[in-house]
Amino acid sequence: MTIMKVFSGKSNEPLAIAIAQHLGLSVSPLEIFVFPDKEKRIRVLEPVIEDHCIVVQSCTTPVDENYMELFFIIDALKRSGAASVTVVLPYVGYQRQDHTFREGEAVSLEVISKTLEAVGMDGILAFDLHSIRIEQIFHVPLIHLSALPLFAKHIKEEGWADGHSILISPDMGGIRRIKILSELLGDMPYAMIEKNRDLSTGKVTADKIEGASLENSYGMKRALIVDDMISSGGTIVTATTLLRARGVEEIAVFATHPVFSEAAPKLLEETPVEKVFVTDTIDLPKEKRFPKLTVLSIAALIAQKLQEAS
Ligand code: R5P
Repeated sequence: MTIMKVFSGKSNEPLAIAIAQHLGLSVSPLEIFVFPDKEKRIRVLEPVIEDHCIVVQSCTTPVDENYMELFFIIDALKRSGAASVTVVLPYVGYQRQDHTFREGEAVSLEVISKTLEAVGMDGILAFDLHSIRIEQIFHVPLIHLSALPLFAKHIKEEGWADGHSILISPDMGGIRRIKILSELLGDMPYAMIEKNRDLSTGKVTADKIEGASLENSYGMKRALIVDDMISSGGTIVTATTLLRARGVEEIAVFATHPVFSEAAPKLLEETPVEKVFVTDTIDLPKEKRFPKLTVLSIAALIAQKLQEAS
């Protein structure tokens, strides 16, 4: 019988521990030694011959460092005789560069996928990928999970499926996501904001909403903004400003990946939204947490999927 073992990089150890616990396991030991010049030496500390190894790593800031660590862990496991290595990559860094937007750009995500496959990754589990195009970039079996059912559950628990809420995608690219969530919530009305981002400055602007009308017979007083990730927070702030200007009284935000770069936590805390829900695809240090923030765990979902796939 193949034994399953869970290993973890340094980027999201709490999630790895929680996944292992749901599987009735502990995280297996790895030595991750950092030299003074910041190079790393990775060593597997227990036998893995013929084992099915799971490696948990979230490739967010410092994204390059986390990817390098992951490449070395996969290599170490394969050299030590692992039968297979499945990477749980809840947040896939570089996923927004999945094609060239302007002439002359690199397709960063393709470089990442080729490297992961070259070092021996046999399968990958990812969460709420930025676009469906990404599934084609990986050539190993991919399990693509979503936090949307978890969000639907929480929206119901908060009492927000009461006929007074509208789902809002802060950009047109989120239409697929918002339609799925609407269905999970018994066809909750939805609308999309037409957002523009200046590719050189990153500045976000928006002045148009398309879809269900905010002022129509539903009597919308609450907007639930749904996005795949919050990075600088600019998208959420722009959407909130527009929605408040259209008379929405209450706003909550649901985003799978709390990338939280720059001053995002401060910006979100100061923006007129009542609550922000994210998941633990990315481990948030104490200083990036703020009173309105709730972190929902995806550990049970991942463990269940790994069990089904084994
Ligand atoms: C964009 O297409 C994504 O879905 C997010 O809306 C975006 O990446 C969020 O970035 P930021 O928080 O920096 O505006």
